[in-house]
Amino acid sequence: MQPASVDFLIQLAMQAEAQPLISHFRLAPARALSPNAPAQLFTGTAHGRSIALVTHGRDPHFHCDRIGTETATLVAHLAICACHPRLLVSAGACGGFQTQGGAIGDLYMPTRFFFHDQRVAIPKLEQFAIGDCTVSDHPAFRAAMRAKHGICATGSSLDATPSEMALFARERVTCKDMEAAAIARVARDHAIPFIAVKVVTDLVDDHEPAESAFARNLSKALVRLVDALDALIATQVSSQVAPPG
Ligand code: ADE
Repeated sequence: MQPASVDFLIQLAMQAEAQPLISHFRLAPARALSPNAPAQLFTGTAHGRSIALVTHGRDPHFHCDRIGTETATLVAHLAICACHPRLLVSAGACGGFQTQGGAIGDLYMPTRFFFHDQRVAIPKLEQFAIGDCTVSDHPAFRAAMRAKHGICATGSSLDATPSEMALFARERVTCKDMEAAAIARVARDHAIPFIAVKVVTDLVDDHEPAESAFARNLSKALVRLVDALDALIATQVSSQVAPPG
């Protein structure tokens, strides 16, 4: 069964990121969002609020999680249409930056998002490709989660080129991920309030490659993410949350 509408829709790319949340909130599998998309929907309740959690699912050809912006966009659209959430949450792992005070296990709730690897030197298309988007802050949620402020750069690569590193420094990026700016765009299309909750598994400006730090730190970082999302769901907000501007 798919829910008619939910308080929280939480989107995560990878099953490994989602599993601790599914277990913690005792979420149950729901009907598929589409016969042609491997996304997986789970539903349940916590702290008296209804929750839907969606993962991007496994690619049937490459036998891995469907990470990245293309699937993020598609799954956000399908899940919003199915669940009509009051708040859409892009959750999961990100790269952090020591130069911006970041450390492994830090939790961010960024309010600015943009694509860092979509370069189109044509007026208007350039701005569209970068997709700079600022969302409303929610101090009650931020306080409950003890989340840092930040700026999130989204792209389709785990590593970063020297010119992207320079861009991150110029824009004081604190989180690098592979989904949030795409999901923020879909939330704006649907006029649905949006936040991102991102936990640092690796440091982009460290000498260690992201892939090894990510693998080593993921499970510990997810403990922090579960804790934060539990606190988020437990938070009672009196005012209506606003959609991304
Ligand atoms: N997710 C976790 N770490 C990441 C990184 N360094 N870049 C993009 N996505 C990530």
